[in-house]
Amino acid sequence: MKNQSKTKINGQYMERLYSFYSPFYDFVFGKALEPGRREAFKYLSARPGQKILEIGIGTGTSLPLYPPHSHIVGIDIAEGMIKKARKRLATKQNGHIVELHVMDACNMTFPDNSFDAVIASYVITTVPDPHKLCREILRVLRPGGQVIAVQHSRGENGHLLEKAKDVLAPLFVRIGFTTDLDVPKVMRESGLCIEHVCGCNIFHLHRLIVGTKH
Ligand SMILES: C[S@@+](CC[C@H](N)C(=O)[O-])C[C@H]1O[C@@H](n2cnc3c(N)ncnc32)[C@H](O)[C@@H]1O
Repeated sequence: MKNQSKTKINGQYMERLYSFYSPFYDFVFGKALEPGRREAFKYLSARPGQKILEIGIGTGTSLPLYPPHSHIVGIDIAEGMIKKARKRLATKQNGHIVELHVMDACNMTFPDNSFDAVIASYVITTVPDPHKLCREILRVLRPGGQVIAVQHSRGENGHLLEKAKDVLAPLFVRIGFTTDLDVPKVMRESGLCIEHVCGCNIFHLHRLIVGTKH
């Protein structure tokens, strides 16, 4: 599937960039992106013991948002981020089972159908091949499982804001994400069934997308 984003993302650059960000990530992006994360978790079915994968977990800012008794598997490509997430775990356990791994979400080592839900917060727009990432989500998610994504997304053509997102995308890629990717479209094209899309965060700049695997 062809990536409709005109902006090229270099995976190694992203890995280095986010490891560099890790000591101060929470200070810069933690609170600013928090409303979207909180909104996303409202859609997560709270079934005790369910196994939930979070891809691009970063410093683990979302760990306190999980329902009680969840089995959480968090992965991130940047070792610096996973180190920070481990430190957070050491101080706050919240009664969950938590596993953290350095892993590329586009090439996961998990077997097919291994998770009840997949959380992707602010990560789909940071990878070189978002279709591959979404196909991996589809593969590891069990049929009927939930996928919940939150991030920048390009909307319909014609709006001034969407044109601005296209123009500014090469700049934002240097900062760590692209703004010209229609994320619900990529998810659909990859075989995920999208059930709900809405705006979130300040000025509804970001999209919250809820889907499933049929
Ligand atoms: C914008 S941060 C979001 C972090 C966190 N989910 C949050 O809500 O703040 C994007 C994260 O995705 C990670 N990432 C980028 N490419 C990845 C990949 N191919 N596989 C796994 N993680 C990746 C980055 O290292 C970074 O931690």
